[in-house]
Amino acid sequence: MTSGDYEAPARMVAPARALYVPVILGTVRRGRMSLPVARVVLAELSRRPDIETELIDLAQLPLRVDDAGEATKDAGFSEKMSRSDALVLVSPEYNHGYSGLLKHVLDSCLKEYVHKAVGVVGVSAGPFGGSRGIEDLLPVLRELGLAAIFWDVNFSTVQNAFDESGALRDQAYLPRIGKFLDELVWMATTLRHGREQVAMPQAESPMRCPKCGAEMNHHAKKVLQAVDVADRSSVDPALGGVVEELHSCPACGANASRR
Ligand SMILES: Cc1cc2nc3c(=O)[nH]c(=O)nc-3n(C[C@H](O)[C@H](O)[C@H](O)COP(=O)(O)O)c2cc1C
Repeated sequence: MTSGDYEAPARMVAPARALYVPVILGTVRRGRMSLPVARVVLAELSRRPDIETELIDLAQLPLRVDDAGEATKDAGFSEKMSRSDALVLVSPEYNHGYSGLLKHVLDSCLKEYVHKAVGVVGVSAGPFGGSRGIEDLLPVLRELGLAAIFWDVNFSTVQNAFDESGALRDQAYLPRIGKFLDELVWMATTLRHGREQVAMPQAESPMRCPKCGAEMNHHAKKVLQAVDVADRSSVDPALGGVVEELHSCPACGANASRR
C-alpha cells in the first residue's frame, strides 16, 4: 500500500461524527527530526475518512515549568485532550528514555484522557526506533487512563529517513503507519462507543450534558491523588480519596465530570 490508496474495510461502520485524533510532537529540540516524522503521520491520518486531526507542537504551547501536574494545565491543550478520541504521540528517544518535556505536558491533564486510545511513534538516531523510550512510556500512559494499542511505528536512524526537502526517502514506512493507524482508529471507535454507551456499575444519579441536555453515560471513576480535600463531602472513604466521575454524552459526544 502506498499513501493515497487507503480503503476503509468493508464492515467498518462510519462514525456518527469524525474521530478527533491529534498528533502530539513530543520535543521542542532545535533541529528535531521528530518534526518530519510527525508531519508524515499527520498526512497519512488526514487522508482517512471520518478523521479530524491536527499537529500539537509542544513548542507552540504556553508551557509552564514552575510547577507540575494539573497545576500547569493549559486550557487550550486540556480542551483538545478532552475532545480527543485518540492520541498519536511522536516520541523521540533521549538517553534510552522518552522526552521529559512530553511527560511534563501529558501530566498536566488527567480525566481528559480516560478511556481514550493512544499510539506511539518512536524516533531515534540509533537502531532501535525509539522503542526503549516507548516501553518506558507505557506505564505512564496507563496511569493517565489511556489505552495503548499494540502497534508502534519505529523510525530508526531517522537522520537518513528524509531528504533535504523533508520528503520521506523510505516508502516502506507508509504501510507500517497505515497498519498502526488501522489499529488506532479501531480502538478509538470502540472506546468511543464504550464511553458513550456502556455504563459502569454503581452509577450515581444521571448527569445531564452541559452542551445538549441529553442524559450522559457514566463510564469511569478516577481517584484524584493530588487535590485539595477541603470539601470533605467529595471524599469517598471506601476508595480513599476524592473521586471524580467521568461522563460522556451519547448524543453530542461532550465529556463532563463531577466529584
Ligand atoms: C539528550 C539526547 C539524548 C539522546 N539519546 C539517544 C539515545 O539514547 N538513543 C538514540 O538512538 N538516540 C538518542 N538521541 C538522538 C535522538 O534520538 C535523535 O535526535 C532523534 O532524531 C530523535 O530526536 P529529535 O526529534 O530531537 O531529533 C539523543 C538526543 C538527545 C538530544
